[in-house]
Amino acid sequence: MENFSFKNDTDIRFGTGRIESELHDAVAQFGDKVLLVYGGHSIKKSGLYDQVKNVLSDLKIVELPGVEPNPKIASVREGQKLAQENDVDVVLAVGGGSVIDASKVIASAKFYQGDPWDLVVNANGADRMKLDQLPVVDILTLSATGTEMNFGSVISNPETHQKFGTGGPHTPAISFLDPKLTYTVSKWQTAAGSMDIFSHLIEQYFNRTENNDVSRGMIEGLMRSVLKWAPVALDEPSNYDARANLMWTATMALNGIVRSGNKGGWTVHSLEHELSAYYDITHGVGLGILTPRWMKFALKDSSTTALFARFGRQVFDIQEADDQKAAEAAIQATYNWISKLGFPMTLPEVDIKDETNFDAMAASAVKTGSLDKVAYVTIRVDDAKEIYRESM
Ligand code: NZQ
Ligand code: ZN
Repeated sequence: MENFSFKNDTDIRFGTGRIESELHDAVAQFGDKVLLVYGGHSIKKSGLYDQVKNVLSDLKIVELPGVEPNPKIASVREGQKLAQENDVDVVLAVGGGSVIDASKVIASAKFYQGDPWDLVVNANGADRMKLDQLPVVDILTLSATGTEMNFGSVISNPETHQKFGTGGPHTPAISFLDPKLTYTVSKWQTAAGSMDIFSHLIEQYFNRTENNDVSRGMIEGLMRSVLKWAPVALDEPSNYDARANLMWTATMALNGIVRSGNKGGWTVHSLEHELSAYYDITHGVGLGILTPRWMKFALKDSSTTALFARFGRQVFDIQEADDQKAAEAAIQATYNWISKLGFPMTLPEVDIKDETNFDAMAASAVKTGSLDKVAYVTIRVDDAKEIYRESM
């Protein structure tokens, strides 16, 4: 096991009915000027918007609506302006990962006088770790990213075809996780969110650190949870146990606990972020297409066979003594599970019909993710292109 530090200050309020009784004080403890950030129509349709406004009726609320999936830097710029002009005390993010990601960067941007894109790419001397950050309170409405309990945000700049991750100095101060709020999530987004959770677990499972049984065992348990409950949530959107397990699995998958003691980088996320950056596709859908192709590529390196075989046996209950056969069966089982979610399984099905951008995407993915240096299996530009091509 490698040395590690673990610190996470998020106050999790999991369960149903807590917004009515706890949201007011959770927000008001930070001040009475609130920037309320949300996405499209989902929170108005579900009644959550009205509930939040009622509970906080004595506070001064400034609103930033319209944060889009794959949140754009334009929303962050707007949020920065509102936060500064109104000198807000706290950011309240109500929505999925995109809303919360944008809110975290806005919380930093309040204390930055330049363009917030600098904060995403560390340009012009900007460094979020050295800046103050407003407290972020969030109400999560979609189980997927884990942003509700981590330091990260992913922001897109459509003008430059860039989608980059950025880390801040704090995780959200308080996260309300009410599984019932995810009953209205569509099948498409439920499938995509579940795939995102599974992918976060895969990215952290396949690494070269030996004998970290704590990490491997926790990840296998969380994988079994998402494999079991995602199909249930798709069939029965209002099944509380399914939504609750998915929500807590999503949070646990990416709050830093399961990777503690491991070293090594991620692969499929870097490849996927290029798809979203160029084609604005749903993150989880891109991951679903690329993951089995990456697995096939990785298994060509025989040093990975034993771990793929273990993954197959522990997670998919594959009963096969031969490692190579168990590993191949695990990849097939992964493909089958993803396609059963109702996913498109090729790039042309998400309207990526030719290879025009593959050179640029492959080069950027390798550079951004240091895939030729820290990935579980080394990925060079030609390898990244091969994975995109195999996904056609
Ligand atoms: O905009 P509204 O109307 O709210 O609709 C949203 C949006 O259209 C809808 N939705 C959310 N909650 C709903 C709902 N619809 C009905 N009922 C509800 N309760 O779902 C759509 C997608 O929302 P979004 O927030 O984009 O989804 P998700 O939570 O999957 O977030 C995806 C973003 O997070 C990034 C991704 O790259 C992507 O940009 N990621 C962030 C990470 C992090 N911060 O740690 C890690 C991840 O790997 C990921 O990269
Ligand atoms: Zn993800």
